[in-house]
Amino acid sequence: MNTLEKVSPRSTKTVRSTNPVSAAESSLIHIRQLHVRYSADSPIVLAGVDLDLYQGEVVALLGSSGSGKSTLMKALTGFAPITSGTVQAGRFDVAHVKNRELRALRSEVGQVFQQFNLVGRLSVLTNVLMGSLHGAGALNRIGTFRSADRQRAYDLLDRVGIAHKALEPARSLSGGQQQRVAIARALMQNPKFILADEPVASLDPRMSETVLHLLTDIARDENIPVLVSLHVLQLALEHSDRIVGLRHGSIVIEGKTKNLTAEDLSPVYDIEQEAEAD
Ligand SMILES: Nc1ncnc2c1ncn2[C@@H]1O[C@H](COP(=O)(O)OP(=O)(O)OP(=O)(O)O)[C@@H](O)[C@H]1O
Ligand SMILES: [Mg+2]
Repeated sequence: MNTLEKVSPRSTKTVRSTNPVSAAESSLIHIRQLHVRYSADSPIVLAGVDLDLYQGEVVALLGSSGSGKSTLMKALTGFAPITSGTVQAGRFDVAHVKNRELRALRSEVGQVFQQFNLVGRLSVLTNVLMGSLHGAGALNRIGTFRSADRQRAYDLLDRVGIAHKALEPARSLSGGQQQRVAIARALMQNPKFILADEPVASLDPRMSETVLHLLTDIARDENIPVLVSLHVLQLALEHSDRIVGLRHGSIVIEGKTKNLTAEDLSPVYDIEQEAEAD
């Protein structure tokens, strides 16, 4: 066990010079003793996870394949069963939400995925506008988007640096451009927080930097938490305020990024297993 993990969640709360979190501020996301098992006869996937996410911070989630990173994100949006424990996401008690509330919860979460999940044949602008479909009244009576939403979609595309591609089909864009469209689409929802599940796994190093910078700017500017899972340790060290390491469904390390080194993070990875596989 690494000594860093013994620090209580309260005292590991990120304190950044650029955007300090006051000691009195409570977490937006509050997870306690989260256990997830996909079915009664399947193994436990998350085994007692405690985690808080605060406004304006970027938290990098690290862990080997199968450690439970995606499951943790899914548990926050009701896509993974909460077998026991508490998951409070803003005003939602996720373990107990019913259909209508679940839709409301999902409408408030910006999600970004490795494979972008755009509709390739539709224009970039329409893809971004689809982020507003969660909100009531995004479409007018004849089924076109309201002009205020169209303007906002353009503004968001401008913010992510690809307004000039607005009318092109999404499939004609490069991976890095598509991921920026996906981020603009997430922002269209006015999200209360963002979950980015390996958002740079399909991108080259330069584009990975761009996308992670963008996510950091969004966390600061919108003052929302961004939880981002990453496979490249160095990117986590360079682009997060806090790092959480999962191993076999448990948090084995948690700390402020500025206090961590690559060596500190080695307990996250199953070195023996990886060596055997070589
Ligand atoms: N829908 C599901 N039904 C049953 N088991 C699942 C389901 N989704 C994930 N699992 C299992 O849960 C465990 C954790 O999977 P998860 O996708 O959360 O890992 P991960 O850390 O995101 O891995 P990766 O880095 O490969 O994306 C794995 O053993 C996986 O097989
Ligand atoms: Mg995953």
